[in-house]
Amino acid sequence: MRVLGLESSCDETGIALYDSEKGLLAHRVYSQIAVHAEYGGVVPELASRDHIRKSLPLIREVMAEAGLTLADLDGVAYTRGPGLVGALLVGACLGRSLAWALDVPAIGVHHMEGHLLAPMLEDNPPPFPFIALLVSGGHTQLVQVDGIGRYSLLGESLDDAAGEAFDKAAKMMNLPYPGGPQLSRLADSGDAGRFKFPRPMTDRPGLDFSFSGLKTFTRTTILDCAKDGVLAEQDKRDIAAGFQAAVVDTLAIKCKRAMEQSGIKRLIIAGGVGANKSLRAKLQHTAEKLGGAVYYPRPELCTDNGAMIAYAGTQRLLAGERAELAVSAVPRWPM
Ligand code: KG4
Ligand code: ZN
Repeated sequence: MRVLGLESSCDETGIALYDSEKGLLAHRVYSQIAVHAEYGGVVPELASRDHIRKSLPLIREVMAEAGLTLADLDGVAYTRGPGLVGALLVGACLGRSLAWALDVPAIGVHHMEGHLLAPMLEDNPPPFPFIALLVSGGHTQLVQVDGIGRYSLLGESLDDAAGEAFDKAAKMMNLPYPGGPQLSRLADSGDAGRFKFPRPMTDRPGLDFSFSGLKTFTRTTILDCAKDGVLAEQDKRDIAAGFQAAVVDTLAIKCKRAMEQSGIKRLIIAGGVGANKSLRAKLQHTAEKLGGAVYYPRPELCTDNGAMIAYAGTQRLLAGERAELAVSAVPRWPM
């Protein structure tokens, strides 16, 4: 079965073609970062317009790279939610109508299910069951995955998502949008031990997270260090390193706890923050110490992409699920 996947929930237009026998045939991601950078965050209306501009040209590129035409498709998958409603509607309208015109089934995919299943696109996919750490700009969740569609939420952030905390801390240091990767780069040359950032909610039982306190700690540390409102370069690096170490340690402590509690020693990392090198190294170490293994999608499949939607959609279609004819986009949709 050959399925076209469309991702348009936020600020990346992702288009991919997945074949249930041959795997990923082609994929393209267009990032709108340059469009939103001057506003310091995603502007929903601009995001929708850019998805409209980019979707069809990217579909053409993907089909051409695979050497196929639309007539070769057996299904179309699009992100149904959660996300920005206008942005979601672009992919949902396009995907639903394309499937109708081609007379093939359509399926609306949960964005986070896409992230959860992204490691399945790699050469060495994890067998079920596994524990998934989903860390993106909108979500921080620990999920037990027993099979396709069999997900149990073990814990989640009670306030900011990990990526959101990275982005907000970066903004406080005047780093350009999106701040997460920039802050992480600064952290590489900083002293993580200089400022004693807290490890929120690690001293009590449970698998929930809270990252808003780290933001407050970052703000007060910046105020303490800044001279005439300006931070020295080394202060910036040390604050970034302290912040990153706190997020990474907190995530690792909860992952370890989830693996111990469930007895499942396979851990997968998904979502944009999964591209963070320090997090990857720490989780690798944590899992190895428990006699387990960590699985990551390649960085381009950690952040938003169409391949994960094509993959998740294919599994749903193979299981006989179908989207109804009405176009449906769900901005808030629990998994
Ligand atoms: O999954 P994603 O592409 O989009 C959604 O939020 O769904 O994740 C984007 C988030 C942003 O908050 C971004 O700052 C963060 O992932 N991110 C990182 C890194 N790369 C991306 N955060 C920390 N370190 C990174 N290397
Ligand atoms: Zn995402």
